[in-house]
Amino acid sequence: MNIKEEIRRMCREKNAVIMAHYYTDGEIQDIADFVGDSLALAQKAATTDADIIVMCGVHFMGETSKILCPDKKVLVPDLEATCSLAESCPADKFAEFVAEHPGHTVISYVNTTAATKAVTDIVVTSSNARQIVESLPQDTPIIFGPDRNLGGYINSITGRNMLLWDGACHVHEKFSVEKILELKKQYPDAKVLVHPECKGTVVKLADKVGSTAALLKYSINDPAQVFIVATESGILHEMQKSCPEKTFIPAPPSDSTCSCNECSYMKLVTMQKLYDCLLNEAPEIHVDAEVAEKAIRPINRMLEISEKLGL
Ligand code: 13P
Ligand code: SF4
Repeated sequence: MNIKEEIRRMCREKNAVIMAHYYTDGEIQDIADFVGDSLALAQKAATTDADIIVMCGVHFMGETSKILCPDKKVLVPDLEATCSLAESCPADKFAEFVAEHPGHTVISYVNTTAATKAVTDIVVTSSNARQIVESLPQDTPIIFGPDRNLGGYINSITGRNMLLWDGACHVHEKFSVEKILELKKQYPDAKVLVHPECKGTVVKLADKVGSTAALLKYSINDPAQVFIVATESGILHEMQKSCPEKTFIPAPPSDSTCSCNECSYMKLVTMQKLYDCLLNEAPEIHVDAEVAEKAIRPINRMLEISEKLGL
């Protein structure tokens, strides 16, 4: 049996669409119908006419698709593929934090559980966080969760003073300033690309700060030939595919004994699990109806503002 051909055959037979995030393994990205960042995956899910969405990414991405498409079957190859950032913001604790600060507009990064989104006013991704924050009047009191690094970065570029939830991603927190500077000595002409989930000290070294899609676009359009990439290393697959003549160097984590620039959750998605999940139409994502009813409002607000701003 050719597993890839079987996957494609089942997709045709079942009218299923495979969506993949840039952090999944290259072979998963290659077999997907659509590859994108968190914003693009949500936008695509909202408009697909497939009967089944197979979300090759982490759990919150599947949940977002299910909330947007309650009548579709949303499958994920591995339910254990969660997200350290989403888990750093339990919904009950976040709701307490919100209740302690009345009068604030609550903005949550898309890397949250459906239950956390349910106590949120507007969802953002790293592709639209700046613009959405700037769309609110300057004096609006804002709570931003869960990523303290992204929130701190948005505060610094917008001059806001948003109240930050103290959460972070275990992958992006690990990049090392010293190791990036060492690489810069070796490759003085290299451009440094940084995801805003990285610490502020790493962001300061960046030639470009942005979402996975924004970093990819920059690497394609910029004339530099060498790029040091401070985000999960799966993105290098699409960068290298788009620009085979350029050199992309994954920024090393501070602990060189581990592959900490890999998201262990994203890497749980394998070809075999993708095959099994299409065959068995499981595991399936379910979202509690009451939670989904509350969570869809901030997601739709994000999609509406993004559309209005042409993002
Ligand atoms: P993007 O929205 O940039 O794709 O990032 C998602 C993510 O999980 C970053 O760690
Ligand atoms: Fe979550 Fe970090 Fe993995 Fe992104 S890289 S999915 S934020 S754990």
